[in-house]
Amino acid sequence: MDREHFYSIMNGEGTLDYEIYLNTKKLLACQKEFHEFCNKDELQFQIVHQIEELWMKLIGYTLLDIDEYLQQENTNRVLTLFRRAHLALKLMIDQLPLLETMSPKEYQEIRAGLGNGSGQESPGFRTLLRMHPHIWNSFKTCYLDRHGLTVEKIYATEYNHSDAYVVAEALAEFDELFQKFRYHHLQLIHRTIGLGAKSLKGRSVEMLNEGLRTVFFPDLWQIRNKMTDEWGGQYGVVRDSLGHD
Ligand code: HEM
Repeated sequence: MDREHFYSIMNGEGTLDYEIYLNTKKLLACQKEFHEFCNKDELQFQIVHQIEELWMKLIGYTLLDIDEYLQQENTNRVLTLFRRAHLALKLMIDQLPLLETMSPKEYQEIRAGLGNGSGQESPGFRTLLRMHPHIWNSFKTCYLDRHGLTVEKIYATEYNHSDAYVVAEALAEFDELFQKFRYHHLQLIHRTIGLGAKSLKGRSVEMLNEGLRTVFFPDLWQIRNKMTDEWGGQYGVVRDSLGHD
């Protein structure tokens, strides 16, 4: 196949309605020119990162709507939009292994052209890191405080699978998926540059590990510990065999 021929037609003319509406001319110009790539993996590297930014933009935008619907206690809307945010987070996780088709050697070549650039500077990620306190505050004010409820009541003493409970579980799922993204990203680093590399020692690895330990909604995780401890003080310490008389 004539590579140059396909390069020249791959981005389209940008004149058809589909291309105009989706702004494909601009979109497909967001990657380096074909002749500028340092190797055959760099297009994928740029595209995966750009798509991740788009999903984070959608998630952030969706969380803004979720926040408003939480304040209105519109549970159906909240759950539908959380489903969207969860699915987008899953897509973020699922596309990371694409980068494992790039060899460590080829990544080193790409890395050389990244300057000081780092995922820490991701606008989408930084936005998402700032949103969870607002989401929690709206949930707590409107679904708990306003009704004289607490996390303990909706999960344990007054558990009846209420709206507050299902919304809390949607929050927990969001938290869990965000953690999973962090975990899979760490695995990707392990696979590509190795977690023991000198350049990673110290701050970077500490920061990534710290991220893995951070949850957005700690109350929703603590309640599980509390319930398990109260449910059976002996659980995990002494266990009767099922075959015991
Ligand atoms: C081969 C691929 C990748 C490698 C080797 C890699 C490597 C790293 C490293 C070493 C860090 C620690 C900070 C630093 O030292 O700069 C980091 C942070 C980060 N990376 Fe990646 N990364 C890759 C792909 C991605 C992708 C596809 C995303 C998509 C969003 C991403 C998002 C982030 C974010 C958000 C941080 C900051 C993490 C935090 O603050 O907890 N990375 N990455």
